[in-house]
Amino acid sequence: MKYLNKSFSIERVKAKYLAKKFGTPIYCYSYEKLKTNIISFKNNFKSFNPLICFSVKSNTNVNLLREIKKLGCGADIVSIGELMKALKAGVNTKKIVFSGVGKTTKELSYAINKNILLINVESKSEVVEIEKIAKSKKKIVNIGIRLNPNTDAKTINKISTGKKEDKFGLTEKSFIALAKYTINSKYINLKCLSVHIGSQIVNNLPYEKMLKVIDRVIKKSNHKFEFVDLGGGFGISYHNKSKKLNFKKYSISISSFLKNHNSKIIFEPGRSIIGNTGVLISKIIYIKKTKSKDFIILDSAMNDLMRPALYGSNHKIIPVIKKGVSSKKIYEFVGPICESTDKFLTSKNFQKLKEKDLIIICDVGAYGMSLSSNYNVRPSPIEILVKGSKINIIKKRQKLIDLI
Ligand code: LLP
Repeated sequence: MKYLNKSFSIERVKAKYLAKKFGTPIYCYSYEKLKTNIISFKNNFKSFNPLICFSVKSNTNVNLLREIKKLGCGADIVSIGELMKALKAGVNTKKIVFSGVGKTTKELSYAINKNILLINVESKSEVVEIEKIAKSKKKIVNIGIRLNPNTDAKTINKISTGKKEDKFGLTEKSFIALAKYTINSKYINLKCLSVHIGSQIVNNLPYEKMLKVIDRVIKKSNHKFEFVDLGGGFGISYHNKSKKLNFKKYSISISSFLKNHNSKIIFEPGRSIIGNTGVLISKIIYIKKTKSKDFIILDSAMNDLMRPALYGSNHKIIPVIKKGVSSKKIYEFVGPICESTDKFLTSKNFQKLKEKDLIIICDVGAYGMSLSSNYNVRPSPIEILVKGSKINIIKKRQKLIDLI
């Protein structure tokens, strides 16, 4: 994604052309970027060849899932709906792991029927439920147990999951007790220890601490785990200067952990695979000038991209046509929704904008479309995947008629 003749382009397709042809807002993804991300992810960890289960919650578009599968990934799913999408995309069931604190009987039963690789359980009650289902189906179910390593991921509090006060996983003590219980169960095969301490982690230290806890817990539980599922959480850089996770360093820590444990590593990356592959193309509806700032009112809103309203996160905004004339004004980019949190970014140094101009909201491939809603009865945007100069509509714009 870059400017070709000052016109923002996704591979060889101009954003301006897409906006004209399909209207706005548009979620647009680059295949090339997706492929590069997966190849580089694999390369960083090639010394131990992990199983990469793409975290479907970060982007649930079936056509993207199909591409991700073709590039060699499995899936990390958290609901029957996500499982059905992964299956529709052709993901091999032996590469699917099921996470989540509240899987229902229906969801467990469906997953057991499909013989997926692992159900990563998060409580004793869930194990008891699985035993009941397994007994009725005369099956032995492969599970992992999620450990809560009580490690601060040093990320946005709202997306931290590995501290003891969080609802996720089991504390060391309960983990060991549940491991003992399952090892003696007729219907369960304990194959995995899983963790996931949070998302958008840019510091290696939390992962290093987490590995130490895992090492200790495995030794204490005295069980041979075929898999260690380290979850996802790899942070990406949302702004030019911001930090991102050092994969090489993480890979070295894991290799040293593996010297003592002969297990296959599973990763569940979402954001690091899909985050920077997508942009949101929007049009300026109005510009409302006030004394202190100009409100740039866009045709995309918090329902299309929730992250700024939900976590206070900043996504870079850039113009579709680069003019380079600074506005010298404070611009506040907002959506049309009746909420004060419907605000994307405040910028002090943007180029001069006028009504009907197009802009790009960057790095929205992860938790963009998947967190979107129909709030204010707004139809969801079209999704487009660009491969070179080829434009693939991977999801049609929702029709108003279907909402009413
Ligand atoms: N595995 C588990 C068990 C998870 O809960 C998650 C994300 C992942 C893997 C993938 O994490 P990733 O590699 O994408 O960081 N909506 C928030 C992020 C919430 C993440 C929830 N769990 C956001 O937009 O920042």
